[in-house]
Amino acid sequence: MSEDIKKGLLGIVVDETTVSQVMPDINSLTYRGYAVQDLCEKCSFEEVAYLILNKELPNKSQFRKFKKDLEKNRNITINLREIVKHMPKKAHPMDVARTVVSVMGLEDKETNNNSPSSNMRKAIRIFAKTPTAIAAFFRARKGKNVIPPKKGLGFSENFFYMCFGKVPSKEIIKAFDVSLILYAEHSFNVSTFTARTITSSLSDIHSAITGAIGSLKGPLHGGANEEVMHMMNKIKKPENALKWINKALDNKDVVMGFGHRVYKKGDSRVPTMEKYFKKVSKINKDKKFHKIYDLVKNVMIERKNIHPNVDYPTGPTYHLMGFDTDFFTPIFVLSRITGWSAHIMEQHAANKLIRPLSKYSGEQHRKVMLLNQR
Ligand code: COA
Repeated sequence: MSEDIKKGLLGIVVDETTVSQVMPDINSLTYRGYAVQDLCEKCSFEEVAYLILNKELPNKSQFRKFKKDLEKNRNITINLREIVKHMPKKAHPMDVARTVVSVMGLEDKETNNNSPSSNMRKAIRIFAKTPTAIAAFFRARKGKNVIPPKKGLGFSENFFYMCFGKVPSKEIIKAFDVSLILYAEHSFNVSTFTARTITSSLSDIHSAITGAIGSLKGPLHGGANEEVMHMMNKIKKPENALKWINKALDNKDVVMGFGHRVYKKGDSRVPTMEKYFKKVSKINKDKKFHKIYDLVKNVMIERKNIHPNVDYPTGPTYHLMGFDTDFFTPIFVLSRITGWSAHIMEQHAANKLIRPLSKYSGEQHRKVMLLNQR
């Protein structure tokens, strides 16, 4: 293969962004210039969502208005609710997520208006409505009644309420909020690049987010948090962990929740998420997952020098919170809608059609023979 081909766009800088900065050398990640760890400790997820979308942290009145806007837009149409209720019960919730955003695009009166103000309104609508649709599927596929959003509840509280019919303790809500803050944005990852690529043809925000969800689904990207849980369930108990992970490494298996294209010395989001995973584990009197977590992590670092990525702690955290494993990546979607939307608006503001080149390596100059001569 020729040296000028950059498979996977490895190391290629394709554009500028002001949304976030990943700094692997100093193990840091900032959103609009604020360290993500600082945001996790001092802000709610909604404040961070505002920051990502509006470039600044909100003051009190801006925040009040933002929360009101979200609350006002949380309800989904009867049409969408019926569609969700009639989706195949065995459908993967990521496929449901992809489809509901696409349906919202059919229903939105401003779908084809790509002006900055329209895109912001649509971003808010997609951000506010998607949790309602996802929670509806969470319940409908179990044959349970769909619970509509409840006024006065924050983003995370309301999502728990719509899934389980009740709001858990403040500590659990904080841990969930932190996971959403950490998942909200991460520069030019594959789903964000997908969203920007779709936008670059001057397509609309619903199309770009629908495509991004399809990209996030893959196990090498967002789907890894589900795979981590499958791995932990296969390991079953801490006593099996060392044997299992050593065998996986002997077999040269890819261990999900480890490694990263950009971070090679550890994911900047992991220490914060790990702290909250351990808190949730303690609250739930978990005797197994935190031990499996440490055992597998230590072997991965010792034998391969490969560190966990953020999907490693979020997987067991969501499990202990009571979510079905196949809803882990849709939860990632609810948060990343903010980052995708910011990138889509940024792409529109300084657009250049994304159209790379390829090196042709197929047959050369063949002559077409007529059918009866072939
Ligand atoms: N388990 C075992 N080995 C791994 C690994 C993992 N999770 N991640 C990387 N490696 C190994 C590779 O096998 C490769 O070894 P080699 O040089 O002997 O062939 C080396 O580390 C480099 O990995 P590579 O796949 O080239 O890095 P990448 O930058 O292309 O891939 C990921 C990054 C994320 C795709 C990769 O680490 C991965 O598949 N991880 C698991 C999925 C996951 O957790 N994804 C979520 C990311 S946030």
